[in-house]
Amino acid sequence: MNKRAKYILGISAYYHDSAACIVKDGEILAAAQEERFTRIKHDHRFPKNAIKFCLDYAGIDNSQLDLVAFYDKPFLKFERILETYLTYAPVGIKSFLKAMPLWIKEKIWMKELIYKKMNYNGKIIFPEHHESHAASAFYPSPYNEAAILTMDGVGEWTTTSYGIGKDNHIELLADIKFPHSLGLLYSAFTYYIGFKVNSGEYKVMGLAPYGEPKYKDLICDHLIDIKEDGSFRIKMDYFN
Ligand SMILES: [Fe+2]
Repeated sequence: MNKRAKYILGISAYYHDSAACIVKDGEILAAAQEERFTRIKHDHRFPKNAIKFCLDYAGIDNSQLDLVAFYDKPFLKFERILETYLTYAPVGIKSFLKAMPLWIKEKIWMKELIYKKMNYNGKIIFPEHHESHAASAFYPSPYNEAAILTMDGVGEWTTTSYGIGKDNHIELLADIKFPHSLGLLYSAFTYYIGFKVNSGEYKVMGLAPYGEPKYKDLICDHLIDIKEDGSFRIKMDYFN
């Protein structure tokens, strides 16, 4: 008799580019972004269409899922706060820090929301944001063992982490925390030159090779302090 297959559904939502992915016995079967179905760019709503696509592709329904994983510790409000913080300065770090405990508490609330939206009553887990990044890089990679480095805007608090992946295990060993973030520095530049945060970064990245690094020293002297060991601090005098 065949062993019953194990299905895991991964979800990201309420930040940018909501998406879903389904894994069967450790293999990715299908993955999709919600915007492909709704035709709304960066659609951040609950990815009900993407989830349906994944389940249909796998040929199963909710009740056959062994696990649902949400991509971080939930922070519905945090998204708004962060975007406000970045896009509509001078809303400052003080209000941002004050709001942090709010979204940490919403973890419980997010569980209920997933149950309700999916009409699901099985197990849900909330891996840390950078664990999710590390997993999404390491597990599909061809390596059984690898050093892992993750860098983004910000997860819960973490902006950069490193660790080791071995077989089906990942251990993150150290991190750099908000507000010291290469991703947010990149977003600040994206905003500064007139593009939208969490949207125009790829345009900046695409345009970068056409330029000359003539501001490199200015940036390294004033905006960021890069240490001997490769860690860094953002000079907050220039950011609010
Ligand atoms: Fe991230």
